[in-house]
Amino acid sequence: MLIDTHCHLEEEYYDNLEEVIERMPGIMITAGCDSRTNKEVLERIKKDSIYGVIGIHPEFVESYQESDLKWIEDHINDSKIVGIGEVGLDYHYDETTKEKQKELFEKQIILAQKYNKTVVVHSRDAIMDTYDIMMKYPDVKYVLHCYGSSIEMAERFLSLHIRFGIGGVVTFKNGTRLKEVVKKLPLAYLLLETDSPYLSPEPFRGMKNEPSNTDIVALKIAEIKGLSKEEVIHTTALNAIDQFDLPISL
Ligand code: NI
Repeated sequence: MLIDTHCHLEEEYYDNLEEVIERMPGIMITAGCDSRTNKEVLERIKKDSIYGVIGIHPEFVESYQESDLKWIEDHINDSKIVGIGEVGLDYHYDETTKEKQKELFEKQIILAQKYNKTVVVHSRDAIMDTYDIMMKYPDVKYVLHCYGSSIEMAERFLSLHIRFGIGGVVTFKNGTRLKEVVKKLPLAYLLLETDSPYLSPEPFRGMKNEPSNTDIVALKIAEIKGLSKEEVIHTTALNAIDQFDLPISL
């Protein structure tokens, strides 16, 4: 079964969201980023094939309210909410909010720890600080979504209960570093994702991404690892079920 472990199924991105959802033959985990999209996650998970994670993305570090965190805690045990995300650190556009981002990230890790939920981590140009904070909470379950750092860095995370979300970037010509990560990490550590509507795989690069494209990602991983696509789809589905405690049997 195909499982897209990370996408953003929001009305504003698609004219035909219903069709996009229907085209995906498997399961999707949609991620919130702020109070508005977190509420949308609750709407989306009414659909059988959709689960959700809720959290405050570092992009919203200046605008979120304490009440948004309270809301997350109030809904963390809702049926089909399977983690906190996406949360983390992003120093790409703005380094001035580093300390505030770290504080928000830690607060949400502590929340995940309290309820034994997976933390879905976004880390951009911030991998060392991400690592240092995660290592402070080694008993928490993590996913590094859209992993983009080196294999050496990936290996440093392996003492944690962690998996790495692999998406469309693995199909890009300049995706050499990620291809090395996929080649060297055991399949047991990998999850399929799209990050829809972003990061469409080749040959759709630049176009709007959608969950059914996890199939293309699976094929690329299979090529790199010398496995069949079916094996990649099956094992990564088992990985996702374990990681997020999904009530699904294959
Ligand atoms: Ni995302």
